[in-house]
Amino acid sequence: MGDLTVTRFGYGAMQLAGPGVMGPPADRDGALAVLRAAVELGITHIDTADAYGPRITNQLIREALHPYPDTLRIVTKVGATRDAQGGWPPAREPEALRRAVHDNLETLGLDALDVVNLRLGNAQGPQPGSLAEAFGTLVDLQHDGLIRHLGVSNATAEQVAEARGIAPIVCVQNMYNLAYRGDDGLIASLAEAGIAYVPFFPLGGFSPLQSEALSAVASRLASTPMSVALAWLLRRSPNILLIAGTSSVAHLRENLVGAGLALSDEDLAELDKIGR
Ligand SMILES: NC(=O)c1ccc[n+]([C@@H]2O[C@H](COP(=O)([O-])OP(=O)(O)OC[C@H]3O[C@@H](n4cnc5c(N)ncnc54)[C@H](OP(=O)(O)O)[C@@H]3O)[C@@H](O)[C@H]2O)c1
Repeated sequence: MGDLTVTRFGYGAMQLAGPGVMGPPADRDGALAVLRAAVELGITHIDTADAYGPRITNQLIREALHPYPDTLRIVTKVGATRDAQGGWPPAREPEALRRAVHDNLETLGLDALDVVNLRLGNAQGPQPGSLAEAFGTLVDLQHDGLIRHLGVSNATAEQVAEARGIAPIVCVQNMYNLAYRGDDGLIASLAEAGIAYVPFFPLGGFSPLQSEALSAVASRLASTPMSVALAWLLRRSPNILLIAGTSSVAHLRENLVGAGLALSDEDLAELDKIGR
């Protein structure tokens, strides 16, 4: 991502918070163990946001891993907050964004954030509209030295183009997986531009991927549907970076090994039909 080098297999920390991404996890020691295992396994990319918990996920990352290894890149996002019902109302006014960047710096214990994604849209997905004012605020914070690199999340292709016209971005983080392929065209154009595409909900998120074709390929390869889904993403395009989430060290290990599964052309053709 830009001048930052990360492993293609990263870790998404959202689901370390409590149910509905609110409050602390039931198993705090288990959550800390997952984060430490991720770094021990060689993962150098952790995705988070101060809205997870809120503050909980960032605090867990800091407790588990600070002082951070030189190689570790922590990617965060701003642009949404939390309400009492666990909703994710947008918070993209300049003052809200400035506060969110400072909150992330404080909870993570950092002087500068490696990558900050401007989270757009809402829980239903990307929504049209200009990002100029919000993105411009983050560019100002980048000039102040608080942010190294910028990205956008939950964004339309038009918003990605608008952001790139304002300042360089190093990544786009949108929903995408084997069954949900709305960004196929965007991924190709970002690959050409050398910009990372980081799918969120790579395993289906709160509703794990289920498909007969996926299960059939997994059983033929003596593997699991989750492994095949991750291996497919890595094959899908060279600019795709994984941030699959899990609250289990066993699943983390299984996913890391599974993502390395070799898929044949026949497997790919079968999997390709799922989201088409
Ligand atoms: N930008 C945005 O708007 C946005 C939105 C959502 C998420 N994100 C980011 O994307 C990351 C990934 O999303 P996500 O964690 O919600 O969804 P995900 O990676 O698609 O799936 C995570 C779910 O899959 C389960 N899982 C993982 N490995 C498994 C395995 N080997 N076997 C069975 N179940 C397995 C996990 O349960 P266990 O805990 O039991 O393993 C968890 O429930 C998040 O951590 C977050 O950083 C960003």
